[in-house]
Amino acid sequence: MNDGVTSRNGHSAIYPGSFDPMTRGHLDVIERAAAIFDKVVVAVVVNPQKREPLFTLAERETMIRESVKSLPNVEVTNFRGLLADFVRSVEATVIVKGLRVVSDFESEMSTALMNRSLSGVDTVFLPSDPKWSFVSSTLVKEVYNLGADVAEYVPPAVLHVMQSKRPAPHKT
Ligand code: PNS
Repeated sequence: MNDGVTSRNGHSAIYPGSFDPMTRGHLDVIERAAAIFDKVVVAVVVNPQKREPLFTLAERETMIRESVKSLPNVEVTNFRGLLADFVRSVEATVIVKGLRVVSDFESEMSTALMNRSLSGVDTVFLPSDPKWSFVSSTLVKEVYNLGADVAEYVPPAVLHVMQSKRPAPHKT
């Protein structure tokens, strides 16, 4: 019997990121990667390069774990240092990245080529669902801190933690 279209492909994928916090766009990429690859490891970077994270590493990992609990082939872990070293240490065969807008592609392309040069592992890009193409962790945090309802943009487990961190409204 030819079951080629449904057979396991043996790929173990790493989906790395800051996830500060995870958005519904991230979750969509994870769900789609989990439908393609045998195993998806969501790897939370310990110290994001951009700035001090709002959420602790434990919070970021817990929010993701809670959001992916229905996906049996998804694991959540963390890494520090070079992604290429981590990818090699866990013998991953592919790196997954989501692309939201054209400007993402410009930076992700050179990162993917550097990671392949360092580790020999290729990056597969999944285009963001247009529904989430404007949703980023940075924007979610900004509008939330200014009082917006972000329930539409983050998984419930993330919203729960965000609500516990909402700064008290300014008193005039
Ligand atoms: O969600 P982000 O912030 O876009 O994720 C960026 C991340 C964590 C994937 C990237 O900063 C990363 O890979 N950091 C690890 C350090 C590293 O390997 N840098 C060289 C990349 S070529």
